[in-house]
Amino acid sequence: FDDRAWRLLDLPHDWAVEQSFSEKGSPSHGFKASGKGFPERSIGWYRKKITVPQSDLGKIISLQFDGVYRNCKVWFNGHFLGTWESGYMGFQYDVSAYVNYGIENTIAVRVDASMEEGWYYEGAGIYRHVHLLKTDPLHVAQNGTSITSDIKNDFADITAQATIENKGHYTGNIEIMQTAYDAAGKVVASATEKGNAPGFYKSALFTSAFRISNPKLWHVDTPNLYRMVTQVRQEGRIVDSYETTFGIRSIRFDAEEGFLLNGKPLKLKGTNNHQDHAGVGTALPDGLQYFRIQKLKEMGSNAYRCSHHPPTPELLEACDRLGMLVIDETRLMGINDYHLETVRQMIERDRNHPSVFCWSVGNEEWKIEGNITGERITHIMQDFPKSIDPTRPVTVGISSGFRSGISSMVEVMGYNYMGNGDIDAHRKQFPQQPGMGTEEGSTFATRGIYFDDEAKHYKSAYDRKPRPSFYSIEEGWKFYAERPYLAGMFIWTGFDYRGEPTPYGWPSVTSYFGMMDVCGFPKDNVYYLKSWWGDKPVLHILPHWNWQGMEGKEIDVWVHSNCDEVELFLNKKSLGKKKMEKLGHLEWKVKYQPGTLEAVGYKDGRKQLSEVRKTTGVPANIRLTQNKIPHANDVAVFTVEVTDKNSLHVPTANNEVSFSVKGGKILGVGNGDPTSLEKDRFVEDISLIKITGLQEQALATAELLQQLPSYPENNWKPAFEIRDYKNPKPAYVYRGSFEIKDFPENAVVTFFYQKIGPDAVVFINGKKATPTKEDAQKYVLSADLLKNGNNTLHIIATPLRKVNDWDAANTDPGMIQVLTPAGQWRRKLFNGYAQVIVQPDGSGNDMQLTATTVGLKSATSVIPPK
Ligand code: GAL
Repeated sequence: FDDRAWRLLDLPHDWAVEQSFSEKGSPSHGFKASGKGFPERSIGWYRKKITVPQSDLGKIISLQFDGVYRNCKVWFNGHFLGTWESGYMGFQYDVSAYVNYGIENTIAVRVDASMEEGWYYEGAGIYRHVHLLKTDPLHVAQNGTSITSDIKNDFADITAQATIENKGHYTGNIEIMQTAYDAAGKVVASATEKGNAPGFYKSALFTSAFRISNPKLWHVDTPNLYRMVTQVRQEGRIVDSYETTFGIRSIRFDAEEGFLLNGKPLKLKGTNNHQDHAGVGTALPDGLQYFRIQKLKEMGSNAYRCSHHPPTPELLEACDRLGMLVIDETRLMGINDYHLETVRQMIERDRNHPSVFCWSVGNEEWKIEGNITGERITHIMQDFPKSIDPTRPVTVGISSGFRSGISSMVEVMGYNYMGNGDIDAHRKQFPQQPGMGTEEGSTFATRGIYFDDEAKHYKSAYDRKPRPSFYSIEEGWKFYAERPYLAGMFIWTGFDYRGEPTPYGWPSVTSYFGMMDVCGFPKDNVYYLKSWWGDKPVLHILPHWNWQGMEGKEIDVWVHSNCDEVELFLNKKSLGKKKMEKLGHLEWKVKYQPGTLEAVGYKDGRKQLSEVRKTTGVPANIRLTQNKIPHANDVAVFTVEVTDKNSLHVPTANNEVSFSVKGGKILGVGNGDPTSLEKDRFVEDISLIKITGLQEQALATAELLQQLPSYPENNWKPAFEIRDYKNPKPAYVYRGSFEIKDFPENAVVTFFYQKIGPDAVVFINGKKATPTKEDAQKYVLSADLLKNGNNTLHIIATPLRKVNDWDAANTDPGMIQVLTPAGQWRRKLFNGYAQVIVQPDGSGNDMQLTATTVGLKSATSVIPPK
């Protein structure tokens, strides 16, 4: 298969995010021109060539896909490996038998994103990592370890289980050695089990028990981790080594005390999140997971619900390392293989993450949640996980019918919204059942907006009740905070996401629910949560103080703070001191005058903090700031803003800024504007054009001419139709045409010729074309050879011969590729901010990002290699 004209790209990749927006697109999926309704943009093929050395012969070679959206078929050297539907769980294929050792191998993947699994943006393509795994035939099965701990006074009893799989014929004894290392790399415990190798293509479970004294427990505040190395020894030789990160901690739900981590009640301050981010869609570089989890931690959050599907493994790694509890959720409720096997895979993959404290087996299945069908399904779905992981409870997010159906029997009740039922009444009826608010909020806010603007689809960022049956974040948190029996609440959502633009439709392409926008820029509610979720003093004033034209008009000024009292000053004049109610906020009505609005916070009668909002001048400079991201070296996230001549951030700026990078590549741009239809990614565009109407004439000599003679018009006949391959003519001339519509000015046009004869010369519109040096069958066609519209191609070639009648001689002359280079990366600021996500090229040189816009001073940021 000739894939020379295909686009070169890196994984992870989401092609949906690269498409333009269309009103005909799916509202729930963010109106991208891909997926439902866009068949021509919904199926993607990927090809990759890899070399497997001869020395790997005898090993088990597997391809592991962490996640492909969705309905994916894979071939290896033409062998069909299987179909995998789920866009959220990974899959693995053993390809050992199909490998061409020592030479090139071809992987082909077909991805079909025509159908939706959820009601939110889901991306399209190989959007998570793919790994090539090589093991001995006798090895630890993939996701084959399970490490649990039982914490006693000053030690922990550890049980380490390993499933050993044998894909070879060895039948003797084996040893399984488990060695635990602490974070500093010191061995803290080890154990060895002996036994027989499992039979051919069978597996066996080996269980080791040992003790770790004075264990450093995993906690959201101190995310201590350990590492278990499982080694398989066959006749004294280590044949496999497998690493598992784990943590030692205890979890428990209690109907009175809520959730307990390491024996102490811990209120869950959670958010729900989908998996996409500005610029990159669902194809997040690993570092972006850390960026996002860090942002949630900075808000005071300690828990994350993967709504409504299993996450990428790197998200859980970030949660383990940064200290964030996780509800891990499966996509579909049901009791058949597809449902239960997905649950099994999710649990086997994720069970060693200390961050994961609860499995969720469903969310808002409206038709069944309140009835007996839902009950029956949940009975199975919550008992089934216990056979794989007895250490974690199961929940379901329930939105209607509290007190009946699933809610009457689920292990941990998941309340989706206090407006959907009487939580206290439910509690009274089922006093033994622990519960938590799996969803609360669904409030609307646009970052940096302080007046609703229905025409522009902007919602003001004050924390107000969004709809009659929904509550503000403050109302929600007060309810949960005041009830110790409720383990906590998960806000819908931490970050905005593409799709679900409730309460609007086109051209709103992202949600309005997030505490932060799609880039992770905070909306003002973040400061309410920092005040009451976090443990640091907070003082935050909203709105900004740039209200030119509104002089003398009353403006709502709110303060989020955890100080005892706050005094507000306008241009140094006190507007009064107010007492802060616990879990509340403060409000003033202020007649606008430009200048300085200052809040002073007092603790125990003494000034603790102050915060100002100043009316700024017009934009003068661009400022680029690199965000600090723990553990990330594959990505840099830049905040772009503009400042006035006094270096004050201009909160209303919306300049369009252009970006260029050296020593890296830009992965995506965003700004948090829910109605922005700007490009997320600037990528080259490739269109492939067929050569049509191929005709031929036989030639008397095999001369490959330098100039195109004129051939008698009535001698042309359809090419290859009647051809005596055993006794061909000395040469043939072929004529075909291809059409380039609206010739893009900077396009590069290439003819990828496929041999229709051993020797050939190519003419475009009568002029001879020259092949490239690196590939004699590739012709980069200069502009003077081409024209807009119809182009004529002539090929004079000696004939291909067939040895056997059944041989297939190529009759396809190849195709024309029109490549339009990626445009200049750019993005408008939205209310003062934009974001650029950049990936260093790994060369070990500096990376340099430059931001420019007309009329302002540009900015450059240089990042030394890590
Ligand atoms: C919930 C649902 C979420 C999201 C949210 C928006 O009912 O579980 O996925 O759709 O509503 O308010």
